[in-house]
Amino acid sequence: MTEKKELILAFESSCDETSVAVIENGQRILSNVIATQIKSHQRFGGVVPEVASRHHVEQITLCTQEALEQAGVTYADLTAVAVTYGPGLVGALLIGVTAAKAIAYAHHLPLVPVNHMAGHIYAARFVKPLEYPLLALLVSGGHTELVYMPAAGQFEIIGDTRDDAAGEAYDKIGRVLGVPYPAGKEIDRLAHLGQDTFNFPRAMLKEDNLDFSFSGLKSAFINTVHHADQIGETLDQADLAASFQASVVEVLVTKTLRAAQSLKVKQLVVAGGVAANQGLREGLAAGIESAGLDFDLIMPPLRLCGDNGAMIGAAAHIALAQNTLADLDLNAVPSLDFPYQNEL
Ligand code: KG4
Ligand code: ZN
Repeated sequence: MTEKKELILAFESSCDETSVAVIENGQRILSNVIATQIKSHQRFGGVVPEVASRHHVEQITLCTQEALEQAGVTYADLTAVAVTYGPGLVGALLIGVTAAKAIAYAHHLPLVPVNHMAGHIYAARFVKPLEYPLLALLVSGGHTELVYMPAAGQFEIIGDTRDDAAGEAYDKIGRVLGVPYPAGKEIDRLAHLGQDTFNFPRAMLKEDNLDFSFSGLKSAFINTVHHADQIGETLDQADLAASFQASVVEVLVTKTLRAAQSLKVKQLVVAGGVAANQGLREGLAAGIESAGLDFDLIMPPLRLCGDNGAMIGAAAHIALAQNTLADLDLNAVPSLDFPYQNEL
């Protein structure tokens, strides 16, 4: 007799991507449909919450149908329904939470609540099995955190940003350079065409803690560009991007490797939208090699770094195994933090 497959239908709608995925046994992506709204938000220079909610409402049933069709499964085949319930925009989160609850109720399926940031970390499970203790560098539009995981399902924030998140800093300096939102990918591309000629500050690099700060760098960058504008000087865009990126990458790499080494972790996972950054990926790999460090570096493929339903399904597999389930009164928690499992 063959064992029944575990099939999780997973929803992600915390920000500006509506995504629905079907995940088999926690590690095989049968479908991962992502409807991005970036074009609708670009002209406002950032995500407009009300616009985001409306798009999610329009997209969620279409994405669900497509995810089931692509995976070749029906509701009757499913084992559980999973959903991001925070952190994120409350109106956006509520669309995913409501859809997941409706399906769980109608089809008598367990409902698995997932923390979006845990989802980003567990995207690494699609690369290889995770081994603990593990350190994750979580870098996205809203977060820049070092998360220590002594075991599956346990999260300890050991470093955090004191002000802007890394992705937020990219998006803010992007505005000054005239790069549309979200600017990270384009600045990363430009950075590879230039040199670090401006020598921007490396904040908190030498301090004996694992926290980050990017607002000083952002101000230094903006002041440099405004000053040049005032005196009618044109600065090289690629050099500006390269100098900004060199500062971000040096601080992230130095502090992350310092933490990974002192905690003697088995694996280092890089997660979140900024994990797609080529400079960061190259910097971490080079830093590990030159220092002869002996832990695994796991960087999910680019399509799994941004927000997606597959990562929520991967996290839900662990939560389901640990019997972390929600009732149908599950609500969105916009400022949800780690640890999350005992808070339900
Ligand atoms: O994780 P994510 O998709 O959404 C949040 O949960 O925030 O991250 C989006 C962030 C944006 O700030 C975007 O500019 C940044 O990730 N990003 C990048 C790159 N690709 C996306 N930042 C730097 N380099 C990239 N290649
Ligand atoms: Zn995210």
